[in-house]
Amino acid sequence: MDAFGGVIFARALTVGLRRGLFESVARRPLTVQELSGETGLSREGVKLLADACVAGGYLEYRKGKYSAGAEAKKWLVKSSETYLGDLIFYFDSLNRRLGGLEYSLEHGKPREPYYASFTDGDWGTYVRGMANLAHLLLPDVIKKIRLPSSGGRILDLGGSHALYSLECCRRFQGCTAVVMDFAPALRWAASMHEGGLGDGVSLFAQDFLTSPLPAGQDAVFLFNILHGLDEETNRSLIERASATLRHRGSLYILDQMTGNRRRSLLSQFIPLMVGLNLMNEIGGSAHSVQQIRGWCAEAATFRVMPLRFPGVTLIEATDWRNGVNSP
Ligand SMILES: C[S@@+](CC[C@H](N)C(=O)[O-])C[C@H]1O[C@@H](n2cnc3c(N)ncnc32)[C@H](O)[C@@H]1O
Repeated sequence: MDAFGGVIFARALTVGLRRGLFESVARRPLTVQELSGETGLSREGVKLLADACVAGGYLEYRKGKYSAGAEAKKWLVKSSETYLGDLIFYFDSLNRRLGGLEYSLEHGKPREPYYASFTDGDWGTYVRGMANLAHLLLPDVIKKIRLPSSGGRILDLGGSHALYSLECCRRFQGCTAVVMDFAPALRWAASMHEGGLGDGVSLFAQDFLTSPLPAGQDAVFLFNILHGLDEETNRSLIERASATLRHRGSLYILDQMTGNRRRSLLSQFIPLMVGLNLMNEIGGSAHSVQQIRGWCAEAATFRVMPLRFPGVTLIEATDWRNGVNSP
């Protein structure tokens, strides 16, 4: 059933989102006829789709009408704080590339890295999808970030939508942040924040693997970055990032990490799905906490903080013995 239903249901959810099915039934219970009118799908088609969503636990069916269940209201309706529709659209764009998985697993990377074929619209889907996930993780992550009380400087590598940096600047008075990412990602990030980014956050369109990294940082974020890179590149990136830190500055790493057998099966499963997907997208992988600890060997303090979201871990590495580490 994993091999049969998984892909089909994922696509069914995407179609439901695209046609406004969940928004419609969240407003008021609807008959098949009414749903067909609102979504533009055939009566037979929308009935199949809605029944599948009932069986999948998203919709409810009573007295001839469909309504939104708790899961749909929580994840699939735009007004919800935990809306993940944009992330599902992003997953859908990934699913279309999965035909190449066998090649990628054989060669350790895809025929063509996925950024190479990105249109501007694909960048938008990517940035909005990542923003959905960040909204979900932010409340948990932000409590664990430590910055000097007199403000602090953050370098957010691959920071995309800039949400983590923005929240830090909101919370910590005098804090400033530089978000470094590719230009198209940052154009979409800027368009997401209609009122502007405020004074604290600036966007810097650079490739962090080839550009010099600005020194004097209190925190460097590598959030959902290491899974896209191989071992050698991660080791070198961590070394360069830690060298930008001031005395007692911290490197924060957020990722889906493998190797924690004490966590739930879902927590073990999700990082492996991320790893398979990343190898297919870009030649990345899922890395373990132990591997990352090895790449941070120059840090005297290494705190591992599992988050509430299955499979996601935040690491804080401080007291670096290498690099500038100016007071
Ligand atoms: C998986 S997303 C993570 C976004 C954000 N950090 C988060 O956790 O929500 C990875 C981001 O890193 C950016 N990125 C990947 N490689 C990069 C590079 N070499 N230079 C700059 N940005 C890069 C991508 O464009 C993308 O926005």
